[in-house]
Amino acid sequence: MKISVIGCGYLGAVHAASMAKLGHDVIGIDVDKAKIDALAQGKAPFFEPGLPELLVAGVDAGNLRFSTDMADVAGSAVHFVAVGTPQQKNSTGADLTYVDGAIHGLLPYLAPGELVVGKSTVPVGTAERLVGIIAPTGAELAWNPEFLREGYAVKDTIAPDRLVYGIEKGRRAVEILNKVYAQAIGNDTPLVVTDFATAELVKVAANAFLATKISFINAMAEIAEVAGADVTELADAIGYDDRIGRKFLNAGVGFGGGCLPKDIRAFTARAEELGRGESVAFLKEVDAINLRRRDRVVELVVDALGGSAYQKKVAVLGLAFKPQSDDIRDSPALDVAVRLHGLGAHVIATDPEAMANSAIKHPQLTFGTTAEALDGADIVVVVTEWKEYRALDPVELASVVNDTIVVDGRNCLDVVAWRGAGWRYIGLGRR
Ligand code: UDX
Repeated sequence: MKISVIGCGYLGAVHAASMAKLGHDVIGIDVDKAKIDALAQGKAPFFEPGLPELLVAGVDAGNLRFSTDMADVAGSAVHFVAVGTPQQKNSTGADLTYVDGAIHGLLPYLAPGELVVGKSTVPVGTAERLVGIIAPTGAELAWNPEFLREGYAVKDTIAPDRLVYGIEKGRRAVEILNKVYAQAIGNDTPLVVTDFATAELVKVAANAFLATKISFINAMAEIAEVAGADVTELADAIGYDDRIGRKFLNAGVGFGGGCLPKDIRAFTARAEELGRGESVAFLKEVDAINLRRRDRVVELVVDALGGSAYQKKVAVLGLAFKPQSDDIRDSPALDVAVRLHGLGAHVIATDPEAMANSAIKHPQLTFGTTAEALDGADIVVVVTEWKEYRALDPVELASVVNDTIVVDGRNCLDVVAWRGAGWRYIGLGRR
């Protein structure tokens, strides 16, 4: 099928490349010329495992093209809108400027029978508003939220765990989307066909649930800290109940990234607009618990350093909001590095992929290799659980650092091994 993808950020670039991999003829559109130039040469503008291979394959085969000219979408049967919906500057609501811009940009090129498919995460009610704008062109609208996780984005797009189609009426949009996702449909991927409002809500409800699960276990970590209990053993024990499950029960410095924090805030703002603020008021608490974990990591570091981080050499291992990503949007790890720097510590921060992005946002920080960060460090702080940090040998490291203190902000290190090697190990919510 001829497909256009408007917006080539994390979501759109992966979606475009994945649609090409599925055999479609794809044009990706973005206003950022540098990004489009890179993509057109088969280069990924951000770190995402598996994406470079798909880009090269699609660009070489000729069924994946990129352009800054919206006119190039003309003739596509399906137009995916995959632009960002960041937090507004002056409120916690979602900024729909890019969604509205994409829809208005598309209008002159839409023809009867074509399908516009919203993938962006939007406040409930957005599709209902947009359908009226699109209707005069004869094109239809569907809302098809994306559940991709960074680091697994290609897999999540090509083989999703479920498909959700929000449609207005009739079955035409369903038939078209079933053709787009023929492979997943053929593999019996669960499909939920519903209305616009439900499809929009599914996405924010899923992210709100995940954020709540993480903040729940982090709240238990807070209690464990004062009660002398261990939150990881608690998570293991409650996780054996398959109604609860062990996934997303890792206590630590908390969630970040381009989705969970902004989505729970936008959901709260939208619920308030709809007069139902109280229904999701708990999400403010979820947010507050999450942000407190950053304070806690900084507090543990300062306490371990004897009450002041001033002029202490602090090795911060990790800057990305999670491993397998170079994304630093709302990253707890980067936040901790910046705060410790602000307290006068001599922070050397490192990350396998996210140093370049971090240096643009926070040039005041000092960055280095893992070895440079650890050399002579007064304390080691692990804030993103990259496998290279989990694999560090505490025995070897003990001779490299100045003082053997480690704060494990992701509860990802082997406590027995680190303590056995003589380290003072400090976890979150751990004995
Ligand atoms: C999330 C959703 O998972 C995805 O379905 C949606 O489409 C977009 O938002 P992503 O932002 O890529 O995906 O990250 P995710 O893997 O969900 O992790 C979010 C944050 O939670 C990370 O900062 C991670 O470190 C943190 N986290 C996750 C925890 O602190 N504890 C956990 O147990 C799990």
